[in-house]
Amino acid sequence: MNDTEHPSSDAPQEPSPTPTPYALIGGDAGLQAVTAKFYALMDTQPNYKELRAVHGPDLGRAQERLYWFLSGWLGGPALYIEKVGHPMLRARHLPFPIGETERDQWVTCMYEAMVLEGIDEATRDHLAPHFYKTADWMRNKPETPAP
Ligand code: HEM
Repeated sequence: MNDTEHPSSDAPQEPSPTPTPYALIGGDAGLQAVTAKFYALMDTQPNYKELRAVHGPDLGRAQERLYWFLSGWLGGPALYIEKVGHPMLRARHLPFPIGETERDQWVTCMYEAMVLEGIDEATRDHLAPHFYKTADWMRNKPETPAP
């Protein structure tokens, strides 16, 4: 028997677990602030206009659902699965034309939201490639070749 598999009272203290990205982003309140900022930026900043244009007039539904999704994705409560079911993110994005421009704006907008909400640089830089990978996987529009 080994102490790691069967901890007993005299076993050495386990190191404290690595905090989840959910904890690093500030838990429920931090995540809600980041998702609200993300859609506020998308709605108002001209450099996100193509990304904004893919969405309908009301961003409230998307904001709430992104918050639910990211909660579980970042290691917190799996709100999206509880409330909606399997995310099937790529399938759910198929009605919306998403190319490189929309992908890049999404990722930049999310990074800017994290900066403005005071998420520390190490956390932002840890999350950025994961956001990029997920956004890139959502692409569903053939790119027009350069002239
Ligand atoms: C790549 C660029 C992206 C574009 C242009 C885009 C666009 C959209 C649009 C138009 C909607 C529908 C909003 C509505 O129903 O009112 C949506 C929903 C959603 N998006 Fe994105 N999205 C992108 C990337 C992402 C990424 C990277 C994530 C997750 C990390 C994400 C998570 C979600 C979620 C969870 C929903 C709600 C799905 C549902 O339950 O219907 N999206 N997105």
